[in-house]
Formats: sequence, C-alpha cells, structure tokens
Amino acid sequence: MTWLLTGGAGYIGAHVIRALRTSGRDVVVADDLSTGVASRVPTDVPLASIDLGDATALSRLINEHAVSGVVHLAAKKAVGESVERPLWYYRQNMDRILTLVETMVDAGVRNMVYSSSAAVYGMPEGQQVAEDDATAPLSPYGETKLIGEWVVRDAARAHGMSWTSLRYFNVAGAGADDLGDTSAFNLIPLVFRAVSAGERPKIFGDDYETPDGTCVRDYIHVSDLAEAHVTAAAATEGAVPIARAYNVGRGVGASVREVIDVAAEVIGRDLDAEVVPRRPGDPPYLVASAQRIRDELGWSATRDLPDMVRSAWSAWQSA
Ligand code: UFG
Repeated sequence: MTWLLTGGAGYIGAHVIRALRTSGRDVVVADDLSTGVASRVPTDVPLASIDLGDATALSRLINEHAVSGVVHLAAKKAVGESVERPLWYYRQNMDRILTLVETMVDAGVRNMVYSSSAAVYGMPEGQQVAEDDATAPLSPYGETKLIGEWVVRDAARAHGMSWTSLRYFNVAGAGADDLGDTSAFNLIPLVFRAVSAGERPKIFGDDYETPDGTCVRDYIHVSDLAEAHVTAAAATEGAVPIARAYNVGRGVGASVREVIDVAAEVIGRDLDAEVVPRRPGDPPYLVASAQRIRDELGWSATRDLPDMVRSAWSAWQSA
C-alpha cells in the first residue's frame, strides 16, 4: 500500500516516514515547506511541495502514486499564535482538511490516520484522561484539531472510510541526530536553547496543585509516536473495528522540574532553573490513559524520559 503523508517534512512527519517504510509500506509526502524541511525527507521518497488547499495538485498526486491511505499531519500548531490569529488558524487548518478529505472521497481513498492532540481535552479533571472523557479545548489550535476529528468522522460515516485519530501528548526526542526538533517551542528544546545561550531555563509557575508545584505532562518519544502511526495505519487496512480516537502517551506524568532534572543529568551540568509567572492557559496536569491503544491495537511506548532527553540533546548538539 502507498500512504500519503501530509506534513512529512516536519519533525514528527520525518519519523513517521521512516516507520511506515520500515513496515514495508510505500510513502509519498505532501508538504508546503512552510515549516517543514525538505532534507528531512529521504531522497527516494517522492516529495510534492504543494499547498493542501490545492485540490487539483492533490488529486494528481493521489492518482499518480495510487495512494490508498493518508496520514494527515500537516497543520499549524502553535497554541499561543492560534489565540492571537484565530481566524487564520481556522482558515489554515480547516480549509486544508476539508479539501484533503473531499479529494480523498473523490479519488476513492478509504484509509486515514488523523493527527489530533491532547489539546482537545483542555483542562481535564482526574489523573489520567481517557478518549471518551469530555473535550473542551482551550485554544483555537485545539478547537481546529477537534473539529478535524469531526470532519473525518462524518465523511467516513457517509463515504465508508476506515479511519482513526491519534491524540498526541507531549512529543519529544529524536530518532536520529538529523531528525531533531529544531523549532524550540516546547519545554525540552527551550531548556537546550537556554543552556546553549548561557541562560537559565524557565519554569512557568511552581504554585500549581501538583506534587512539586510545576505542571505535569505525559512525554512520549517521537519514535514511539511514529510506530503508533504504523499500528494505526495497519488497523485501518484490516477488518478489525477501530475506535475514533486513541491517546498516544505513556500514562506516566513528569513535572517541569523533573524534566529539567533529567536534562541536567544528561547535559552533566546544574541548570539552576528560574521560576517565572505561570503561562496563561496551561493545564496543571495532562496525562493520558494509554489503555485503549494498548488493549485494542496492541501498541505501547517502549522509550522513557531519559531516552527522549538524551536523543534530543544529541540531535540538538549536532544541529
Ligand atoms: N514550560 C516551562 N518552561 C518553558 C517551556 C515550557 O515551564 O520554557 C512548561 C509549560 O508551562 C508546560 C510544560 O512546560 O507546563 C510543557 O510545555 P510545552 O510548551 O512543551 O507543551 P504543552 O504541554 O503546552 O503543549 C504541547 C504541544 C501542544 C499539544 C500539547 C498536548 O505544544 O501542541 O502538548 O499535550 F497540544
């Protein structure tokens, strides 16, 4: 089978390409290269630098490569920016998924894995959030992710598609030194950036109701996440029933302080983090129940937080 990967030149996409190919599937990438980097796509993987809003170009690509499934990763994903530019976020993320799914339906492409996010849950109560818990996104970014799930669900119901969405928790690490996250928007890359600049890493608030007062997240290695895509793609190809959404996390929480402690150990230096005021909109505690994907699809993560920090630091230094 040939899978089309939108956003395949991004940090996560680059890992998904490799995992799909390792599983024996052919891959073709569509990426407008607005944030993606062409060199992340292996030279023997076709890369079309097209806008996903361009139905003609998309349709040509699907036909040319006899695409039978789509992993849709391409999206704008900066939470803060989405609050500042909500209409642009809706335009970017919604226009493109509508065009993509319409084109898939027209071309008879029946399998889809949609990249969703833990951001759909907002500020959940309780220790681990499960797929059927309430969704209440806190940002236009999270809203576009949730609406995207609905778009695919409704199209799938009407047109007989086999699909699921993967709700990523906090993705970190690198599968190889040339595949690291260079964008420095998230905690681990921001810690590295501070260290490289001779500055102190920042902790956004230590007065939350969590064990050490800092926010707790469920960090997942990007290589584990990539393998979860293969598992999901395979499930859509098979005859087994597949759920509308799967959390992709480890079910293990780590606080900001714990992450910085692991980073200090990996880097071999005391990091002396500075506590600054809370960042608006941060849920204190966001940890996955990882049970559904384990029970139904047989997937679970195999890499831990030190693996993530070690591989990310190695990639950061080689960038
Ligand atoms: N943080 C700091 N200092 C920093 C950077 C982050 O203390 O310099 C804290 C944040 O306040 C938060 C935690 O570290 O408590 C993680 O922050 P990130 O920005 O790395 O990640 P988020 O949990 O805010 O969001 C990430 C993705 C979203 C996705 C979400 C799902 O960026 O796209 O995980 O859990 F939706």
